[in-house]
Amino acid sequence: MLNFPTNPTGGTMTRESLEAIARLAKHHNLLVITDEIYAELTFEGKHTSIAALPGMAERTIFLHGFSKAYAMTGFRIGYACGPAELIEAMMRIHQYSMLCASIISQEAAIEALQNGAEPVAEMKEQYRLRRNYIVKAFNDMGLDCHLPRGSFYAFPSVQSTGLGSGEFASRLVKEENVACVPGNAFGDAGEGFLRCCFATGLEQIKTACERTARFVKSLKTEGA
Ligand SMILES: Cc1ncc(COP(=O)(O)O)c(C=O)c1O
Repeated sequence: MLNFPTNPTGGTMTRESLEAIARLAKHHNLLVITDEIYAELTFEGKHTSIAALPGMAERTIFLHGFSKAYAMTGFRIGYACGPAELIEAMMRIHQYSMLCASIISQEAAIEALQNGAEPVAEMKEQYRLRRNYIVKAFNDMGLDCHLPRGSFYAFPSVQSTGLGSGEFASRLVKEENVACVPGNAFGDAGEGFLRCCFATGLEQIKTACERTARFVKSLKTEGA
């Protein structure tokens, strides 16, 4: 299972690395499920889908949707592409549990596909500005943060504060009204990190950063 750009770290994958995975999948006769819902929100380099590599379409289930690039989270519409026999097998479960996406959402999705390219490109530049702002703010307040290459998540480390992810996140929301997801919600490797979404407006991001910086500062006084 692949997910690039990745939630929660914003990591992306080079074409060369995907080619290596594709070789492995072919060698061991594996199926690949690839969730590329953040593909359009790639800030560095060009997004490559593993499904587009030679010999991979027949062994890949490609997942995508409208929630991220088109900011259509509430529309609840996405799609899977893959070899016909696999999609037919998926349909046996899907059609008795979901029926279908609403007509309103389908119409909105058609509009997004036909006329959405320009607004998506504009939004991507807004996300880039927000990303640059939030990453700098975290580093300035002493929370090490890499520059995510895609998605709309920053993933700063809170290790320098001495608090674990869960305690940091729950105190931050209680004391400063700033919500983020503790990194360990994504697995043990995420402990010591936070996932901070920058899909909201820049002004709100600025306020959240000011409050987080104040909270981090208060921890230092607490520890002193
Ligand atoms: C990697 C990934 N895939 C899928 C989704 C779900 O998107 P949707 O709102 O279309 O169900 C998300 C949403 O957070 C996501 O991060």
